[in-house]
Amino acid sequence: MAAQSIIGLDIGFHSIKAVELGRVNNNTQLISLGSIAMPEQAILGDNPNDEKIVVDTIGKLFHDMKVKSNIVNTSLPESSVYTRVIEVPRLTDKELAASIHWEAEQYIPLPIDQVNLDYAVLGNGKTGNTMQVLLVAAPLAIIERYTRILSRADLVVSSIETDAISILRVIPQTLPEKANILLINIGARSTDICIVRQRVLTFVRTVPSGGDSFTRAIAEELGFALPQAEEYKRAYGLDNTKLEGKIAASIAPVFSIILEEIKKILVYFREHNPEDKITTSLLFGGSAKLPGLMSYIASETGIDTILGNPFENIYVDPKIKAQVESNFSTFAIATGLALKEFVP
Ligand SMILES: Nc1ncnc2c1ncn2[C@@H]1O[C@H](COP(=O)(O)OP(=O)(O)OP(=O)(O)O)[C@@H](O)[C@H]1O
Ligand SMILES: [Mg+2]
Repeated sequence: MAAQSIIGLDIGFHSIKAVELGRVNNNTQLISLGSIAMPEQAILGDNPNDEKIVVDTIGKLFHDMKVKSNIVNTSLPESSVYTRVIEVPRLTDKELAASIHWEAEQYIPLPIDQVNLDYAVLGNGKTGNTMQVLLVAAPLAIIERYTRILSRADLVVSSIETDAISILRVIPQTLPEKANILLINIGARSTDICIVRQRVLTFVRTVPSGGDSFTRAIAEELGFALPQAEEYKRAYGLDNTKLEGKIAASIAPVFSIILEEIKKILVYFREHNPEDKITTSLLFGGSAKLPGLMSYIASETGIDTILGNPFENIYVDPKIKAQVESNFSTFAIATGLALKEFVP
């Protein structure tokens, strides 16, 4: 008998992704999964009609997926929240709770009474009398907007977190506990770059560029319409042996904005952690499927780079396994969100 299932819902700029998981005979099982294009970039707009578009689109997706549950975990895009590791004086839990708002005020460019603040102590700071704290500040207006959309879609919200936190749950268990990992989530409009030290999130940066910039660059460089440029992007990507390398040559300068940021973050990490080494880059997001991207990142950074499979420890019906696996990087956040129910 299946326990109550739960849906992880990732509302992106390009598409909405959902993964429903349940527990069957002590195994976490995929119950349903699906994605749907986000019409008219509605998640970005702030008029009530945009909200209705998102509500209706979620409704259509869940109808097509034949979901069994109405309980969702969702996340806010990293581009709309502030995730920082800050250094504070060594304090007791009680002292930290009393002073965190004041500490946060120095790092968050919004009035502190307009954000929801979450934090976790990571460990000792750089000097003997400080400690490091992970701070996540989410604007209340955005939380309210997401809550309103989900309630209008007749859903029960079990939790709202951030993309970077949810993706931690899909780090392959085959990687050693102590590994230092670079997580790169490349979506349509933005790319999140995170460092995870021994399974703890210690750094997050969002670059406002992603797959849609690659498509635009191909269209502009080669004079294609956007749908055609999108097809070429998906077919040839950064593979410079195809079409005389023209597609790769159009994408590379745009991708270099992301790559430069990755390299800067690696330099920062090495300077601050001379004893430690980042051993693996894990790629997630729809644009992680770009042909040639993995080997490009690996050769530019010198770090072993793999496509993250969020379904590693989830039972997937063999009938849909092939369909799920050809798309798994896209569903990483939605899977991480649903997994919240089943893993600590
Ligand atoms: N096979 C593929 N090869 C290359 N790019 C692809 C492929 N499939 C999808 N994409 C790109 O992935 C992007 C969508 O990815 P994803 O669904 O992760 O974005 P999103 O979550 O909606 O966007 P964001 O995170 O920026 O809000 C689009 O730019 C799309 O062109
Ligand atoms: Mg996304």
